[in-house]
Parts: sequence; C-alpha cells; structure tokens
Amino acid sequence: MALKITVIGTGYLGATHAAAMAELGFEVLGLDVVPEKIEMLSAGKVPMYEPGLEELLAKHVAGIEGSSGRLRFTTSWEEVGEFGDVHFVCVNTPQKHGEYACDMSYVDAAFASLAPRLKRAALVVGKSTVPVGSAARLAKLLVEQAPEDVELAWNPEFLREGFAVQDTLRPDRIVAGVASERAEKLLREVYATPIAEGSPFVVTDFPTAELVKTSANSFLATKISFINAMAEVCEAADGDVVKLAEAIGHDERIGSKYLRAGIGFGGGCLPKDIRAFMARAGELGVDQALTFLREVDSINMRRRGHMVELAREAVGGGSFLGKRIAVLGATFKPDSDDVRDSPALNVAGQIHLQGGQVTVYDPKGMANAGRLFPTLGYADTALDAVRGADAVLHLTEWSEFRELDPAELGEVTTARIVLDGRNALDPVKWRKAGWVYRAMGRPTA
Ligand code: UDX
Repeated sequence: MALKITVIGTGYLGATHAAAMAELGFEVLGLDVVPEKIEMLSAGKVPMYEPGLEELLAKHVAGIEGSSGRLRFTTSWEEVGEFGDVHFVCVNTPQKHGEYACDMSYVDAAFASLAPRLKRAALVVGKSTVPVGSAARLAKLLVEQAPEDVELAWNPEFLREGFAVQDTLRPDRIVAGVASERAEKLLREVYATPIAEGSPFVVTDFPTAELVKTSANSFLATKISFINAMAEVCEAADGDVVKLAEAIGHDERIGSKYLRAGIGFGGGCLPKDIRAFMARAGELGVDQALTFLREVDSINMRRRGHMVELAREAVGGGSFLGKRIAVLGATFKPDSDDVRDSPALNVAGQIHLQGGQVTVYDPKGMANAGRLFPTLGYADTALDAVRGADAVLHLTEWSEFRELDPAELGEVTTARIVLDGRNALDPVKWRKAGWVYRAMGRPTA
C-alpha cells in the first residue's frame, strides 16, 4: 500500500513539500497550528506568493473541482498521528531575538505535540534547518515518548524561495540522515518517483545531514560576500565587478552562480543560518573554525550602509531632510513576497530614520512591507514612487524594473539619478535617457 504522508508546518517549505508530495502520488495531510492558514490552504489559496504553488494546490487539494483529492489540511495533531506513515517536520527555525542562536521552540513544540500522538510504526523526518546535534536529541525524545517502531530521519531541504516548486520536484540532491536501514529504505521509497529520478541520494548520519544544510548556506553566503568584497575593491580602483564576476565565473572551479554583487543577501535563511552556525560552533568549542563567517556577515551588512551613503551623496552629500527617495523593491529577492531581513527595506528604513522621505514600490511585497515598516511611504506603481524623487534606488531586481522605460520615468522627476543596488538595470539604456546611473562596484560613467 502506498505510504501516507503528513507535513507539519505550512510555510514556504511545508506548503510546497505537501503539494509536491501529492503531485508525486502520495496521500498527504498538512498540519499547521494557525487555523487561518489551514482555511486558506484547504480552499487552494497560498498564504504567501510562490510561483506555481497555487496551481499545484488546485491540482490536488480535496474538494476543489477536478483535483486529485490527495491533499488535505488540518489543525488536529490526533488526525496527523493516526494518518501518517511518514511525517515531515517543516516548521521554521528563526533567529532568537537579540541573539545569534536559532530559536528551536517551533521544532521542539512540533515534536512534543507529535510524539505522544503516534500510535503505530512511523518515520518522522526533520526538514527544518537546525543546529547540529538537534536530531540526536529529538531521536531520544521519540524513543521516550513514541511507540517503539517510530524512528527519526533528517532530510534537509535546499529549496529557494521563488523556485520552491521547481526545487522540490527536481532537487539537486537528496540528503538522508538516518540511523537505520529501515529509515533509509522508507526515505528512498518516498523519493523513488519518476520526478525525483536522477537526483543524487546521499546517505549520512544525523550530524552530517544537519551540517550539510548549514554548510551549504554558509558557502553561498561566503560566495556572495566574496564578490561584494571585490565590489568594494573595484569601487576604490575603478574596476568593474560585473565584468570581474563574469570572468572569474568562467572558471568551472569557481562557477558563475552567486556572484552577483550588490546590497547583499537577506531573507529568512542565509543571514540567520550563518549566525546560528557560529553560535553552535561556539557551543561545540570550535568557534575559531567559523570566525570567517563573522566577516562574511559584516561585509554583507556593510553593503546596506554603503547604499545609504551612495544615496546621501546622490542627494547632495548632506542630510536626507527634505529629500525624496524612491525605493524600487521591498522583498529580499525577486519573485517572492518575503520581506524578512530584506536588504531593500533595511536601506529604506535607514534613510527614513535619517529624515528622508521614502516612497517604496514592490510588485508583490507591499502588504508584508507595510506591516513591518508602517511609517514608510508606499506607492501603487514604480512611476508613482519615482514622481518627484531626488534619487531612485533600485534595491530588488524584479524583471518589472528591468523593463521600465527610463524616458517615461524621467518625465516625472527632474533629478534623474538612479542607484542600482543589484547591478541589474541596463546602464546604457538609463544613461541614454538622461539619467545619472550609478551601480555598486562599477565605474561611475
Ligand atoms: C537560500 C538557499 O539558496 C537555499 O538553498 C536554502 O534552502 C534557503 O536559503 P533563499 O533564501 O530563498 O534560499 O534565497 P537565495 O536565492 O539563495 O538568495 C538569498 C539572498 O542572496 C537574496 O537576498 C539574494 O538577493 C542574495 N543574492 C543571491 C545576492 O546578493 N547575490 C547573488 O549572487 C545571489
């Protein structure tokens, strides 16, 4: 009989994983402790913006006309305990308030709720990003609180927001942290589908599986900060970091991805993951091994401050008081509505705090940005944001912004200064239309 799957936590990771599992042919039950989320998902609506996810839900959520009916959602732990052969734990692990360490309270609460409700043989699979050592601790908890034939596996997830569906259905690799052959066999069964076919399946122990995730994100963060450090040098030496990245990226050992210089990385993963990793290394007595991540973090944060300084220069070098700044982009990256630790909003917020009159426009992130930064100004279109601006800051590289017509924008402002914080606009096009175009780590003209 086909395995029955539950997915605990329905954020970017869980909602996508649940829909993907239904797409792979499994019966799936998703759980969240927030009833409004469950209501929305049960109606086939996604509580966040993630391309392709709504279509996938419509294909599978029970009760939707023409759907496979394989996917349902609930708030009941009892139902989850009874239903599943395999339980994926997909709750988030944010940064602790005022600390580097990661907040394990959602993971701990999920295991505490699930364990006593398990009544038969099952595999519990952790997908959340956790400090190394957590899986061993949680496995012990299952031994104490769940039936004997309940086991744990750790199976980190590498999906990128904006590409969540695609990354889940066609993962680069599947990492299975297991403590028994039975757990490995079950996980292989889950992923033995035509869609995941061809993805390398790497079997490890618990700590290695946990570390694969944090080290992969640390590597990506390091790559971005490396190119941003080169941008600092390029700016001082009149070099062009975009050309430099292109040229070094041709070396296959380096590769061209994650070499986009700009205002740096943000979001709910990379910044908090490198900090949590440093905190954990400290606990393990190997903090020296990761001191470079401190530098990675500080290069990254410096980018935001540097953009604020470029904006200050653009409006005359003095104070922002009385100056109108248009900010294009609020989300931490395009094709997402996520504003968690968004470099764009951080820059907008700093300028606002220094007296600037900031107007933000973002294609999908307005509602979330408004909730987080209610005192910033917001406009309904890029054109409205730019109207009367002393400087335009391009801070999230949505394709909509690349397609803007600088000539049309030039008609609603006289200052015509654009600062490209993502090195994604076409300098020739903007300069031709009479704008002063300035990018990060590139020559000024
Ligand atoms: C990341 C990892 O990519 C993913 O594997 C993991 O599961 C979760 O964390 P995500 O946070 O969705 O995914 O975003 P990602 O696309 O990696 O971008 C992170 C940040 O880095 C964004 O703010 C982006 O703008 C920035 N970035 C990315 C750069 O500044 N330059 C680059 O070259 C690439």
